[in-house]
Amino acid sequence: MDYKSNPTIEEIKKDKFFMGTIEKTVFGGKGIINVEGFTVFVKNGIIGQKVVYQITKKKKNYAESIIVDIITPSSIEISKEKQLNNIPGCIYQNIEYEEQLNIKNNQLKEIFRKYEDIEIQDVLPSPKIFEYRNKMEFSIGYEKMESTIEDGEKKWNDSGVSIGFHPTGSWSKVISIDNIFIASQNINEIRRKFEKFLRDNNCFNENPWNSLINKGFWRGLIIRESNFTKDIIVNIIVTKKINQELSEKLINFFKRLNLSEKSEITGLFYTVNNTKNDSLNNPSISILYGSKIISEKLGKKVFTISPFSFFQTNTLGAEKLYFTIKSKIGNSKNKNILDLFCGTGSIGIFCSDESNSIIGIDCIKESIQLAKKNAINNNTKNTNFICDKVESVIEEVIKENKIDILIIDPPRVGIHPKALKTISELKIDKIIYISCNPTTLERDIQYLEAEGWKAKNLQALDMFPHTPHMEVIAVIENKNL
Ligand SMILES: C[S@@+](CC[C@H](N)C(=O)[O-])C[C@H]1O[C@@H](n2cnc3c(N)ncnc32)[C@H](O)[C@@H]1O
Repeated sequence: MDYKSNPTIEEIKKDKFFMGTIEKTVFGGKGIINVEGFTVFVKNGIIGQKVVYQITKKKKNYAESIIVDIITPSSIEISKEKQLNNIPGCIYQNIEYEEQLNIKNNQLKEIFRKYEDIEIQDVLPSPKIFEYRNKMEFSIGYEKMESTIEDGEKKWNDSGVSIGFHPTGSWSKVISIDNIFIASQNINEIRRKFEKFLRDNNCFNENPWNSLINKGFWRGLIIRESNFTKDIIVNIIVTKKINQELSEKLINFFKRLNLSEKSEITGLFYTVNNTKNDSLNNPSISILYGSKIISEKLGKKVFTISPFSFFQTNTLGAEKLYFTIKSKIGNSKNKNILDLFCGTGSIGIFCSDESNSIIGIDCIKESIQLAKKNAINNNTKNTNFICDKVESVIEEVIKENKIDILIIDPPRVGIHPKALKTISELKIDKIIYISCNPTTLERDIQYLEAEGWKAKNLQALDMFPHTPHMEVIAVIENKNL
């Protein structure tokens, strides 16, 4: 491979190879190499790495690239002998944990560098940095996918049935990884044993999914586990109804699965997805045995989780996050809480001690049903959970109700402009904004500041060790009052 070390801006062109040292690790899993003042983003690049990179896109103000070879690792990377199996998405896994937190601290400061009087507190570490995830979603597919043309026809010789992840850069192959260090022992064991079960039984004469031709039967495996009860629910994603004979085999297998941590699979079900897309729209489930829900405890509150409802994937981290949110809210006694993007109502309910009322809004029906159930189970009074889009109903909700405390926890895209405008007109003293994407948080804060609000404090939590993600709590005060 031919590469150049000190390119000029003109030489930076799509598909060309260059060598350089990564100067910064920025939010979103990218490193930056500076070429004569021109920014080249390097996917998964880590500060200090000397790499050969290939340009994948060139725009007027920046270029994007991928690493093709690491010539010298970064000084913040751990030695080769200490490195664990590579998990796709865990791009910081070879960096000492303290350094991972430093990187996240610097990224947050960089995103908010324009804001003068904002207090940015150090990122709080995750209570557990290994085996912290309570949910894993695996794909089922082939490790090797090869096709040949025979008599003018394409023939597939796929092999290596796997339950695992798509390797970086491939959406069709699936690699099987033993000891996924962010998932619990139980989840690892179920993945491994079910993969062996499928391999040993020739997949019961059904093929794993081949996304290149959109054919196959076995498609995915979703496992959720409760840290509180240790119950586990398993959802198998297939492309058509499972027949009686296969159902019995699966029930037998999962009921008898001897897990070394003595946990039990308390619910087994499946979901049919016969579309080309992996993401599920309005998914439904068919129960093979047991219950489709599990319970999780955060602080003194217990929450019900169903197969597709949102729940923070790092249970101990979520508890720390919610206690931190609660302390930022302060006293909620006799106050009226509005919990936007409430999911299963967990933040509002967690922070609601002696509050007067809670209104929660989320657009997913299943989550709202659970929020109502969670409120009853936790003895939370005066609740009203609304199933709708925040931007469609917020104006009316605010007009008809007195609100004292506003909690906002939107998805990565942030808040819809229509909802943001209504929020900015609220006559309350502060907003607690929880975000999993500091760049959209910054965009929304910029809007609110132009409308007379002031972001006072940012507190990030590392809910996702080894990955480039973080959760940020912002306290935004109203200067219009
Ligand atoms: C980051 S989750 C927060 C969930 C919840 N606060 C929690 O901590 O468990 C974002 C939530 O926003 C919901 N959502 C996404 N877009 C929405 C919209 N336009 N209106 C209402 N809810 C929405 C999703 O269903 C999801 O539950």
